[in-house]
Amino acid sequence: PLVLHLWSRCLQTAAGVCLQLDVRCEVKTAGSLTVEAGSAALLSCNISLATGEVVHQVRWLNRHKVPLLTYEPPARISHSQAHVQLTPSPRNASSITIRRVRPDDGGCYRCVFDVYPSGSQEGSTCISVTGKVHLEGNRTAVSGKPVSLSCWYSLPERVSQVLWTKTSEQGDSATVASYSKRGHHTPEPFRDRVRLSPTLGDSRLTVLSVRTEDEACYTCQFHTYPDGTRSSTACLSVYGETRSPQHPWEMVLPAFSPAPHKHNVRICGRVAGPSQ
Ligand SMILES: *[C@@H]1O[C@H](CO)[C@@H](O)[C@H](O)[C@H]1NC(C)=O
Ligand SMILES: *[C@@H]1O[C@H](CO)[C@@H](O)[C@H](O)[C@H]1NC(C)=O
Ligand SMILES: *[C@@H]1O[C@H](CO)[C@@H](O)[C@H](O)[C@H]1NC(C)=O
Repeated sequence: PLVLHLWSRCLQTAAGVCLQLDVRCEVKTAGSLTVEAGSAALLSCNISLATGEVVHQVRWLNRHKVPLLTYEPPARISHSQAHVQLTPSPRNASSITIRRVRPDDGGCYRCVFDVYPSGSQEGSTCISVTGKVHLEGNRTAVSGKPVSLSCWYSLPERVSQVLWTKTSEQGDSATVASYSKRGHHTPEPFRDRVRLSPTLGDSRLTVLSVRTEDEACYTCQFHTYPDGTRSSTACLSVYGETRSPQHPWEMVLPAFSPAPHKHNVRICGRVAGPSQ
């Protein structure tokens, strides 16, 4: 609902600008952008100029109408905030980059072209800032051992619930565990076999003793406001089920072993020893 509200406000602003200009609405913008917090946002405006019209200044304003960057084309900057950069553009266009978008940088930004002799024309671009889901990649697990999958959302304060689901090779999905401020939920048949950290932004699912049927893809789903549902998936491979527990002749070399390629090497088989 906040997003919708934001959008409708932006549309009204854009419409309001066009109506005020009365004759034309000649500034084109992307309208809306979704940007992940921490990454860069490129905002651009194009203006159609009639013959004889000259742009003598371009101003970029944030949602509070505070100037972010002001310049005379092509690139004589008279005012600029530290996190904003001018991107070279032809005279009938203007672009700025906001280097690292912060969670509270959402809202509508305006480009104002001061045109001689006709006056000012402006366009508006609305940014919504979202977080990003991070999940460790695919994993291998040894049967009978525990394994943990970790997943986190870069804007933890927006998460209200985290839900892990399992999708088998056949494609059917099941809920493994969920956590929200109201508590845990771990349905059967996972109840006694998995543990989920009691945390929202940073979630860790542990299978206590891995079985063959745990080989599947796991999705961590963050229910966030106002970003909506965001998720990521990693797959688990299970090894070692067929060997009897009396002969666990399996060794997983750590990733920092001096192998020519950096990956886990599994050596399976009987160990020769004095008893044989
Ligand atoms: C502005 O014009 C350039 C080149 O003509 C085009 O690539 C770009 O998509 C336009 N941007 C907008 C917001 O209309
Ligand atoms: C901007 O000007 C160039 C020529 O300088 C022209 O090719 C281009 O179509 C113009 N773009 C817009 C959006 O008016
Ligand atoms: C993870 O495993 C799945 C299924 O085995 C595969 O489709 C996917 O490409 C793998 N992803 C990566 C990053 O290796």
